[in-house]
Amino acid sequence: MLHTGNRMPVLGVGTWQLTNDTAGTIATALTLGYRMIDTSGDYGTQPGIADGINRSGMERADFYLVTKVEEVGDAYQATRKNLDELQLDYADLMLIHRPPRTGAGEDLWRSLIRAKGDGLAKDIGVSNYSTDLIDALIDATGEVPTVNQIEWSPFGYSDDMLRYAMEKHIVIQAYSPLTRTKRLRDERLSEIATKYGKSPAQLLIRWNLQRATVPIPKANQRQHLEENIDVFDFEISEHDLETLNGLNERYSSLGTLPYI
Ligand SMILES: NC(=O)c1ccc[n+]([C@@H]2O[C@H](COP(=O)([O-])OP(=O)(O)OC[C@H]3O[C@@H](n4cnc5c(N)ncnc54)[C@H](OP(=O)(O)O)[C@@H]3O)[C@@H](O)[C@H]2O)c1
Repeated sequence: MLHTGNRMPVLGVGTWQLTNDTAGTIATALTLGYRMIDTSGDYGTQPGIADGINRSGMERADFYLVTKVEEVGDAYQATRKNLDELQLDYADLMLIHRPPRTGAGEDLWRSLIRAKGDGLAKDIGVSNYSTDLIDALIDATGEVPTVNQIEWSPFGYSDDMLRYAMEKHIVIQAYSPLTRTKRLRDERLSEIATKYGKSPAQLLIRWNLQRATVPIPKANQRQHLEENIDVFDFEISEHDLETLNGLNERYSSLGTLPYI
C-alpha cells in the first residue's frame, strides 16, 4: 500500500534492454501472473509493451504500469508522450528517472504533480534520489514521493535509506535486484539458496519481499520469468536474512549507488 492509499503489486517485471521480443515477453509475463511492468520513456520498450498488453487481452485495472520521465525537458509533455506510446490514458506510477545535474528537480516534480492532478498518473515518485534530494522536493512542494526506485540487492543497499523511506512511508522499488547476474554465482548466496531448494535469483527476489522492498527483475527468457515469480512458497529464516543483510558492500552493477 502506498501512502496515497493506492495499492501496488509486490513484484514487477523490468524491461530495460528487453529488446528481443518485448511484446511477446510482456504477454507471457502477464499470462504467468506478473501484474506490474516497469519501463521508461528512454528504454524504447513502450510500444512493445502496448502490443503485449493488447495481446494479453488484460483489462486496464488488472495491471500496474510504471514509467519515467527524463531529468531534462518538459516532464508534463514527456508524460503525455509516454502514455501515447503505451496507448494508455494513465500510468499507475510516473517517476523522475534521475535527479538533474543541479538541484533536486523541483520544477520536474511540479510538472508531475500537475500530471497527477490531470489524471495522467495515479501516483508519482522518483528514481535514483538520495534522502537529501527527496527532502528538497518535499520542502519545495509538500508532496511526498510514493516511491524511490533505486539499485538494491543484499550486495548493495543502505540501512539509512531504508529507515528514511519507512519514516516517510516511501516504498523502495529495487532495480537490478539480480545484480544484472554479476553476483548470482556468489558462493554464500548459492549455499543459502540450495537449503531452500531455490535458485540464487529466487533468493534475491525473496530477500526483497520479506523486507518490504519491491523487486522488478528483468528477464527475456521464459524460464527466467517463470522462476522469478515462483517465490511465494518459501520463507527465508531470520538467521539467513541476517546473513544476506551482511553481504552489503555497497555494490553496484552499474558503477555506483547514486543514493549514497
Ligand atoms: N530507474 C533506473 O535508473 C533503473 C536502472 C536500471 C534498471 N531499472 C529497471 O529495473 C529492471 C531490472 O534491472 P536490470 O534489468 O538492470 O537487472 P536485473 O533484473 O538485476 O538482471 C537482469 C539479468 O538477469 C537475468 N536473469 C533474469 N532472471 C534470471 C534468473 N532467474 N536466473 C538467472 N538470470 C536471470 C536476465 O537474463 P535474460 O534477460 O536473458 O532472461 C538479465 O540478463 C530493469 O529492466 C529496469 O526496468 C531501472
